[in-house]
Amino acid sequence: MLQICELSKNFIMHIRSEAEIYGFDAVDFSAKPGELVAITGPSGCGKSSLLKCIYRTYMPTGGHVHYTCKDGSVIDLATAEPWEMIHLRETELGYVSQFFSVIPRVSALDILTNTQTGRGVDVKTARERAAEYLEKVGISPKLWDMYPATFSGGEKQRLNIANALITKPRLLLLDEPTASLDAHSKEWVMNMILDLKAEGTAMVGVFHDEIAIQTLADWRYEMRERKMVPKDYKMEYASEALAELL
Ligand SMILES: Nc1ncnc2c1ncn2[C@@H]1O[C@H](COP(=O)(O)OP(=O)(O)OP(=O)(O)O)[C@@H](O)[C@H]1O
Ligand SMILES: [Mg+2]
Repeated sequence: MLQICELSKNFIMHIRSEAEIYGFDAVDFSAKPGELVAITGPSGCGKSSLLKCIYRTYMPTGGHVHYTCKDGSVIDLATAEPWEMIHLRETELGYVSQFFSVIPRVSALDILTNTQTGRGVDVKTARERAAEYLEKVGISPKLWDMYPATFSGGEKQRLNIANALITKPRLLLLDEPTASLDAHSKEWVMNMILDLKAEGTAMVGVFHDEIAIQTLADWRYEMRERKMVPKDYKMEYASEALAELL
């Protein structure tokens, strides 16, 4: 479903005499439906930039991101037109950012409702599913009508995850989704990710957390010195690993 070839990203800082900052270089990997590729590596090695290049928040400097769409056509996300990216983001792609930016004065329930109504779901169904997902990620009903600006870091993160998962994307990009969660919240989130994998969603996730990697990942790569080091392995018994580790 996703095949990444020789993908690279450098940043040219126009306001700093065209200084060049290296993002990452010559990244190759692929993911089939229902597979999760975990990416690890030290701070600043380019993990978030890689996800942003796939989602096209950043324009890659070189390489290809071949993605097979729902209709069977293959599109190169590295060179797709902006309107094609907007359409794919609205219909097939999901992204959980590393840092949640709060929409001002929109309640948690309305955020999840609006995400769905924007994709054609009727308001009643959207509100019911919004409540279901808020419950699934363990956000107290007392907070559903509150503005997330005042939420704790973990509550914001869980809302962010629910907002991406509720659309059931075909390709989901996760940037440290379990980073600031306690053991219980982590378990809720990991179970939701496993459910979505079982429905065929392909995922690329940045993780530092060994339990999350062993529970969720089918393949593992390490980014070191801005390159992808082949350290891939297939987790055959992800669900057994979850039972053992929790
Ligand atoms: N928009 C940008 N403009 C200039 N440089 C950038 C930009 N985004 C990222 N970088 C640089 O690219 C490098 C990789 O950053 P990135 O955020 O991808 O790292 P990371 O591996 O996700 O780190 P962390 O684990 O701390 O989240 C860093 O040196 C960073 O300063
Ligand atoms: Mg990052």
